[in-house]
Amino acid sequence: MYISFNNISDYGEVPYPEGYRHWAHVKTAIVGHENPFMRFRGMHHIYANDLAMKGYVSGKFPDGSVIVFDLLEIKTEPNTDIVEGERKFIDVMVKDSLRYDSTGGWGFEEFNKNSLTERNILNLSKQKCFNCHAKTKPTDFVFSAFRK
Ligand code: HEC
Repeated sequence: MYISFNNISDYGEVPYPEGYRHWAHVKTAIVGHENPFMRFRGMHHIYANDLAMKGYVSGKFPDGSVIVFDLLEIKTEPNTDIVEGERKFIDVMVKDSLRYDSTGGWGFEEFNKNSLTERNILNLSKQKCFNCHAKTKPTDFVFSAFRK
């Protein structure tokens, strides 16, 4: 049966990144309540698998690289100022240069809250994710950097 270009099975589902909380921690940042990027408000941690760590060093991410942007609410607690709240979503990038050729070789997906199956993006990755990540073509569409 013919599958149209926009069909989700053609784009290829990005798998849930099992175990990413045990991967290398790239960085953490807080996007405050005044920030215009409303949906990214909160505290995010970025994690990378071993292949993606090679990419952070070389600037070119090999196929099989996976990077996770884990976004949590922020809240205040006595004596600790700002701490993690509930998870809002995780954003995932998976490198497969053939399958995701039309989005810089990266597959983009978002999983809602703590769900392993509830996808927020499906085949809208180009509009919702790639158009912004395209600004970082010189660093292989990745914004963050790994500090020593
Ligand atoms: C408006 C611009 C914008 C949009 C839209 C956007 N991102 Fe990002 N993304 C960023 C920025 C900026 C960072 C770096 C955050 C940091 O360094 O703390 C980032 C970081 C990431 C990272 C960590 C790797 C990296 O590039 O640093 C992943 C994974 C990610 N985004 C996935 C997604 C997914 C999936 C979507 C769509 C649901 C998406 N992004 C939409 C701007 C965007």
